[in-house]
Order: sequence, then C-alpha cells, then structure tokens
Amino acid sequence: MTKIFNIDSLNLNNDKLKEAGLALKNGKTVIFPTETVYGLGANGLDETAIKKIYKAKGRPSDNPLILHLSNVEDIKKYAYINEELLNKIKKITPGPITFVLIKKEIVPDIVTANRETVAIRIPAHPIARELIKNAGVPIAAPSANISGKPSLTRSKDVIEEMNNRVDYIITSDDPDFGLESTVIDLTKKNVVLLRPGPISPEKLKDIFGKIEVPDFIYGKKEADIAIAPGMKYRHYSPEKPVILVKDFSKDFKNDIKNFKKPVFFILKENLKFIKNDGFDYEIIDKNYFEFAVKLFALLRKYDKTHDAIIIESLKDEGIGIAIMNRLRKAASKII
Ligand code: TXA
Ligand code: MG
Repeated sequence: MTKIFNIDSLNLNNDKLKEAGLALKNGKTVIFPTETVYGLGANGLDETAIKKIYKAKGRPSDNPLILHLSNVEDIKKYAYINEELLNKIKKITPGPITFVLIKKEIVPDIVTANRETVAIRIPAHPIARELIKNAGVPIAAPSANISGKPSLTRSKDVIEEMNNRVDYIITSDDPDFGLESTVIDLTKKNVVLLRPGPISPEKLKDIFGKIEVPDFIYGKKEADIAIAPGMKYRHYSPEKPVILVKDFSKDFKNDIKNFKKPVFFILKENLKFIKNDGFDYEIIDKNYFEFAVKLFALLRKYDKTHDAIIIESLKDEGIGIAIMNRLRKAASKII
C-alpha cells in the first residue's frame, strides 16, 4: 500500500516530510515533486533500494539515474570537481539543471549503470529540498512515470499511474517548468548539452562559455549511446499517435484522414487552417514556457479521449528546443 501525502509547497508539513525522509533513508521509495517533473526517489547509496526504482518504472537497467542533493557543496562528496567549476555551477543551482561529472567510488554502480560518470542535480523545489535534507543521503531519482510514458507533472496523474508501485507519494501544486532538467556533460573539453531543458543553451553560454549542442538534440541523428544512454529509448509517448506538423498552410489533411477524433495543439494564428473542420484544439501559448508546463499533462489528457494528437512544430529557440526534443521523440510521424 502506498502512503499518499499532499503537501502545500508554501506551507511545508514537517512531520510528513520527516517521515518520508526517514523512509527514504531506510530503503523505501518515495515519489516527490520537483520544479521540473515528479521524481521517483530512493537512497542513492543503497543498491537494494535503487533496484526498486527500476522495477517500479519498468526502466532498462542500462539507463543511469540522477543523484539529487540539497546542497551544492555536497557535489564534492560524490564527484571530482574543482573550485572554479563549482563556482560556475553555483550560479545556476539550485534549479532545473543536471551536471554529469566523474564519479567518486562511493556512488554505487547501479546508479550510474556502470559508468565512470554520475549525473547530479540540486533541485530548487522546497519539498524536494526538505525531503533530501531529512533523508540525509543523496536521492537517486528518475522521472516518476512508467518508462516510455510522458513524465508526470500533475498530482492526479501521479496517483493514477504510480499508486501501489512505491511506498510513498508526495503530491503538491503544479511545477514551475513541467519539462525535465537540462543535462550537461562537464567531463569533456567543451561543455556538451545532453538533454535540452528549462536552462537554455544561451544561458549556459553565459556561464560556461562554449557549449556543444550535438545533432541528436534536434533529432537529426540517432543518439550516440555512449554519451547519452537515455536518448535511445522511445520516450514521452502517449498510446495514441502523435503527429508533428511543420506547416499548417500546406495540405496535411491527407495524413490525418484516418483519424475519427483528433485533437490539435496549435498556435492561435494558425487556427484558421482547422477551424471549419470542427476539430477539438488547444492553443499553444506564444510564451512557450506556458505551453511547456502543461505539455505532458495535455498529452496524458487527450490520450484518453481522442484518437490522435496533432501538434504544431515550434521554433527551436529557448525552451522551444526542449519542447521539440520531447515532441520529436513522442511523434510517430513528422510532416
Ligand atoms: O528534471 C529532471 O531531471 C527529473 C527530476 C525528477 O529531477 N529527472 C529526470 O530523470 O528526468 P530521468 O532519469 O528521467 O532522466 C535522466 C537523464 C536520462 O536521459 C539519463 O540517461 C541521463 O539523464 N543520465 C543519467 N546519468 C547519466 C550519466 N552518467 N551520463 C550521461 N547521461 C546520464
Ligand atoms: Mg525520464
């Protein structure tokens, strides 16, 4: 039986967070909110506990996990890092960004899927921070969804998908970003972007100088398994087909004619191309951050009620890069 706590992030319930923190330390699994998506956590130093994460998600064991810490200085305990790099990291943490570094011996192989590197994130969400502090150990946590599904960003979706798969679920209000953290590799000569997210390449450039953005970020090539293990799996996918449309002014109707009840996610200025057909739709906000925060919740919602999700391709700019990265993986067809 899963114990479910709902906690207001502006008014923390310390008794509940102490209980969940202690449970984590003692080998239990806890789903918790972060500013990006919900995480499924276990004691990052306890191999038996970490095995439960892979089982609860149905995650392939060669896909490594992120270690979540509450304090930037603690990075030194788990990875090799010099002061200069640590100072740069301090400029963007806590927050929605994950750093790949050379791991120290103390990090179990099961966390890193036998790699020499470990991914580390210091979340900004008050519940995540308090929980990690209470646990007193680093928390290994992937996104809380069943492997291959869109990440979880809404409390009702978390309970629906994960109830009875973990020991505790902590739900709270909606996240700030709704897309997973930016992942960067700091072990190479240049900083390499492994997963685009809320912290944009432009922002990273300000802090780290040169940033390498591999082609697979834009879906142009298959991911190089050696550097980005998580990228090779189909991801973020609803059951129903997702179709990405580059240009609604061109004829796209032939590609969707077999669907009886599609829904469109579309920019307001392009509504004119579908309006007369009586299709259901969601407007994509001009401010992509507003769309990002609800994207996974919308995919889950329409997966239940419609037979296809037709989405307008967005510009690969700012958080648009992260949105498009997820949508290209979710898409069964790009037209
Ligand atoms: O926002 C987030 O990052 C959320 C919250 C819960 O913190 N977590 C998350 O975890 O999205 P997950 O496991 O779904 O995605 C982690 C990504 C995967 O693509 C994984 O392959 C990659 O980070 N990763 C983990 N360790 C790595 C490593 N040592 N080297 C390269 N990539 C790594
Ligand atoms: Mg994930």
